Amino acid sequence: MTGSPRSADFTTAPADPTSRARLAERGLRYALVDTDDPTAFADWLRADDRGFHLATRDDEKYERGRAGIGYRRTTGVYDDGLSVDPQIPVATVGSWRGELTVPGSTVEHPSTLAAWAISSVTVASTHRRRGIARNLLEGELRTAASLGVPMAMLTVSESTIYGRFGFAPAAFATNWTIDTRRAKWNGPAVPGAVEFVGIERFRLEAAELHERVRLTTPGDIDLWGHHWDQQVGATDPDEARTKQLRAVRYRDAEGVTRGLALYRVTGGEPDFSQHVVEVDRLISETPDAASALWRYLLELDLVTEVRAQLRPVDEVLRWQIADYRAAKVETWEHQYLRVLDVPTAFAARSYAAPGRLALEVTDPLGFAAGSWLLTVSDDGAGAVTTASAVDGVPALRLTVNELAALYLGGVAATTLVDAGRVVEGTVGAASAADRMLRTARAPWLSVWY
Ligand SMILES: CC(C)(COP(=O)(O)OP(=O)(O)OC[C@H]1O[C@@H](n2cnc3c(N)ncnc32)[C@H](O)[C@@H]1OP(=O)(O)O)[C@@H](O)C(=O)NCCC(=O)NCCS
Repeated sequence: MTGSPRSADFTTAPADPTSRARLAERGLRYALVDTDDPTAFADWLRADDRGFHLATRDDEKYERGRAGIGYRRTTGVYDDGLSVDPQIPVATVGSWRGELTVPGSTVEHPSTLAAWAISSVTVASTHRRRGIARNLLEGELRTAASLGVPMAMLTVSESTIYGRFGFAPAAFATNWTIDTRRAKWNGPAVPGAVEFVGIERFRLEAAELHERVRLTTPGDIDLWGHHWDQQVGATDPDEARTKQLRAVRYRDAEGVTRGLALYRVTGGEPDFSQHVVEVDRLISETPDAASALWRYLLELDLVTEVRAQLRPVDEVLRWQIADYRAAKVETWEHQYLRVLDVPTAFAARSYAAPGRLALEVTDPLGFAAGSWLLTVSDDGAGAVTTASAVDGVPALRLTVNELAALYLGGVAATTLVDAGRVVEGTVGAASAADRMLRTARAPWLSVWY
């Protein structure tokens, strides 16, 4: 992994002094939460739940939450002047040092970049629009940069919030609604078998399979144990969703697990013949695994619709059903990135073609600003140096947002030039950039975080 923290561990680095001072001027206290303290953590989680309009949990669930995400750097903003419950923060943010898979990564030769994952950004509705979120976000970015982490990443509730902090979508995802009466399977018949597995087995095998699959998927990240507890409903054993979960796995001709699906069958009214299948997760390591699992789901009896979320943009299924229009596909921007260290980030990934590219980057927060020269050698390795314009080298002028959008190779420089978001310093620079940066498969992130 490239870009390891230089100094303190991510949980113990002190609260960013700039944000602390700015919030103190407004009578607010910005502080790290001691996650070993169950009461302090539960108060923080109460604020997080309230911010996302989630139901209040019972004490046992707060304790489960602490066991699951208490390892994170957990920050709160407190209004000590409140007459009621001043110990409940008025704003929250959680972060950790994750691994982002970058282009060129394989299971045998993994290429991942240290990336500062940001989650749980909330500001109490009583304290909104006073600049608290800005101080939380800028504080996270300064802390990450001070620890030598070259990238920040997040997924968003609203797409309008994070551009101002230098983030942009770098990987997209699709949501599918498939009419199974029209979507006759048109793909290959594959060897191997699909079989039911218990939910606990799914949990174990899914965590292992994801570890391999994410290393071949630029844009994806390493996952924490609590994620799988939530996925299989272990955090909410009594909920209807948990009780409806079913899991199948695909084993190839050699008996190796290559794919897993977790799904629920809902509805069925009025005569049990019209159920809807909600695919909560489909993980496939090989094209055969994806084919076998999709075919299984589409051919379930008594089912008229299959829905799946967070699928890749270039989902192969599109080419495996008899009627393209049997599937309604909605595209979302999903994995947002924010470049903090240009040389480290761009040296971590590999490139599709050799060449040189000059990038003149503006960044209101300063981290990525500068004139950079990316040089890619014949073996696809890249190096970035600071350099002013070099004669004969294709050049692009862009903000740090577009730099993030381009990073994983899923967004074309030519598109951003046509959109007026990137300016070509030399004619044809965008095409030259695309030859170097684009990837054969679209980058993809398979989870929310
Ligand atoms: C989104 C949220 C964190 C913003 O907090 P806030 O403290 O009110 O934000 P700030 O006052 O610091 O605003 C910072 C900037 O973001 C903008 N902004 C804030 N909320 C926004 C929103 N929901 N949509 C678009 N822009 C928003 C502000 O206008 C301001 O812009 P400017 O600095 O360019 O003038 C808060 O409204 C919230 O908790 N929402 C519910 C939970 C949520 O959606 N969290 C995000 C999870 S990804």
